[in-house]
Amino acid sequence: MSRPPMARLDRLLANLGYGSRREVTALVRAGKIVLDGKALTDPGSKVPVTADLPSQMTIHGAPVDPPSPLTLIMNKPLGVVCSHKEAGRSVYELLPHRWRARMPGLSTVGRLDKDTSGLLLITDDGAFLHRVISPRNHVIKRYKAQLDRPLTGDETALFSSGTLMLEGESDPLEPAQLLPTGERSADLIITEGRYHQVRRMFAAAGNHVIALHRDQIGGLVLPADLEPGAWRILGLAAQDAIFN
Ligand code: URA
Repeated sequence: MSRPPMARLDRLLANLGYGSRREVTALVRAGKIVLDGKALTDPGSKVPVTADLPSQMTIHGAPVDPPSPLTLIMNKPLGVVCSHKEAGRSVYELLPHRWRARMPGLSTVGRLDKDTSGLLLITDDGAFLHRVISPRNHVIKRYKAQLDRPLTGDETALFSSGTLMLEGESDPLEPAQLLPTGERSADLIITEGRYHQVRRMFAAAGNHVIALHRDQIGGLVLPADLEPGAWRILGLAAQDAIFN
C-alpha cells in the first residue's frame, strides 16, 4: 500500500482556514487538536492527509474539515451568484465561513446565472475542474427550461444543426439536443458552457426563458433529496460518474 501524503500540522490547519499559523499553533499547544484519540502538542508534527482525516482528527471536539482535494455538489438556489466578484449573496456564503480562507480555494465548476437553479459543482481540484469544463471532453449538461411562448417545432433542427451562431459570437454552437416536455417547456442538452448559453439559444429561436434549472452534468444527476441551498461532498466514484 502506498504511504499517504503527509503535512505539517500547523500548515494543514492554516490551509483549512482555522486561523493564521500563529493562531493554529496556539490551538495545538492548548491540546485542542486530537488525532486518533491523542492530543497533538507539536505544531510541526507530520500528519497524514487523507480524505478520511475528519474521522480521525478533531478540533475542539468537532471533526476537522475535509482536506484538499475537495469537491462538493450543491443544489444552487435561485437568487445567489456564482462569482466572488459579482454583487449579491454568493454560493460561497452557503458553505462554512471558515472555508473562505481555505488554500487552495474553492471555485465553482462553470457558473449558473443568479436566476438559474440546480446542479452546481464546487471544487478546489483544478485538474477535475478543467476536465469537466474542457470543450474537448464534451461533458453534457441538461437544463429544464420553462418558456414564455409555445415551442414552434423548429427549435430541434435549429439547435442540433451545429450552425447556430449566437449574437456577438464568431463560432457556431456545437449541436445540442432539445427534448420538448410540454407546450412551453423543454429539456435542453448542451456540451458547452458559453455565457447565458441556454437563454441566448432560446432567444435566437424567438422565445424567452422564464425559468431554468440544471439537473445533470455528464452521468451525474442532481439527487432528489438535495434541497435548494443544500450541498454535500462528492466522492470519487460520483466524480467518475460524470465522465461515464
Ligand atoms: N445557460 C444559461 O442561460 N444560464 C445558465 O445559468 C446556464 C446555462
